[in-house]
Amino acid sequence: MNRHEDNLDDGRHPRGNHRKADDSAGRHTETKAVRGGAHLDKKNGPLGTPIYQTSTFEVADNDEQLRVTPTDRFYTRYGNPTNTVAEETVAQLEAVDAALTFASGMGAITTTILALLKSGDHIVAQRDIYGGATKFFTQWLPKMGIQTTLVDTTEYEQHARAIRPNTRLLYVESPTNPAVRVVDLRKVAELARQHKLISMIDGTFGTPINQRPAEFGIDLVMHSGTKYLAGHSDLICGVVAGRGDLIQRIHSTRTTLGNCMDPHASWMLIRGLKTLAVRVARQNENALRVAEFLSQHAKVRSVHYPFLKSHPEYAVARAQMSGGGGMVAFEVEGSGEDARRASESMRLFTLAPSLGGVESLVSIPVLTSHAMITAAEREKMGVTEQMIRLSVGIENADDLIADLEHALETVAATPQHAQVG
Ligand SMILES: Cc1ncc(COP(=O)(O)O)c(C=O)c1O
Repeated sequence: MNRHEDNLDDGRHPRGNHRKADDSAGRHTETKAVRGGAHLDKKNGPLGTPIYQTSTFEVADNDEQLRVTPTDRFYTRYGNPTNTVAEETVAQLEAVDAALTFASGMGAITTTILALLKSGDHIVAQRDIYGGATKFFTQWLPKMGIQTTLVDTTEYEQHARAIRPNTRLLYVESPTNPAVRVVDLRKVAELARQHKLISMIDGTFGTPINQRPAEFGIDLVMHSGTKYLAGHSDLICGVVAGRGDLIQRIHSTRTTLGNCMDPHASWMLIRGLKTLAVRVARQNENALRVAEFLSQHAKVRSVHYPFLKSHPEYAVARAQMSGGGGMVAFEVEGSGEDARRASESMRLFTLAPSLGGVESLVSIPVLTSHAMITAAEREKMGVTEQMIRLSVGIENADDLIADLEHALETVAATPQHAQVG
């Protein structure tokens, strides 16, 4: 083993991604994002993380073969040193035991659920979750004998009433997609603890810069790393971070399902994570400016942003998040046609699904993120045809506001009332 290889992992430990991220103690979140899983005590190695673009690892003899089998130098479907660096960085950011990377955010969700639940088990999940997760819970899991009860997102009494003797998992998302509702994570974690359930959150919109759910007692945090963690709209990946015992079980299932991340993609994720804190800080500032502008606009019926005082969960958001995030949703006065026209008239906000990159994007949730769920479910979630979702990037806020001002001129409807929420 040469010194450069030595920079990543000495191979003597059990699989690197299951190690406690204890050398990060005392560092701030911004520092963890940049320095992450790189082992700072090793000298003379490359500053950048090497990409171990290999499917397998050579050994000197069969004794060594047996020794490396439980490590990240055996076969890349089981683990890979570059993936380990990405995983350790996210584990440090979330301040949890361990993390795992996946080929996509959906891969992270599906693999985790299949690892932890079996036929006959039951899930309580919020109604306001990513449409792909709703589809998996309501259309796929029943085929495997796993049922889900969807509950109103911030009705915690309803969550409690939905719990059955066979319930194993409480699944939430905060802030939610697309209406940026905010869930009281302390209440959810406490409910799960009382009933001995695993609590899991889709924390994609929050990012570990704005919120760290494990601090409130949540067991597993999932991210579509495609979004803020990678941050440049050039990568598909997913991450699950949390309790070490659960991560072990998920790791074994990931190996079987083959849902692992490619080392080159891991390297891109590591690079993205280095600027996560500065990107998110700018997105927080820009999104608040955009939300304030929209809430004063006569052709806007409602604005949804956690750090607007009119947001129904403003107090919870301020208590558990350090920034409101980069996502803003609003409804135009008028019809779905008006919303489509406004979204197509924007020049800086690019019409595209997805979110979390440095460029500002716009999309119509009923046509994109929530197209795959039924109209009845969408109605219960308050996702209307008039709703426009903005992923606010890191451009100059004045330019973004000018773009919205121009686009809203295309909304024909006579304003009836301007209200924020
Ligand atoms: C909140 C949220 N969770 C999960 C996903 C799924 O992630 P991926 O597209 O990386 O599979 C998405 C994708 O849009 C999302 O917005």
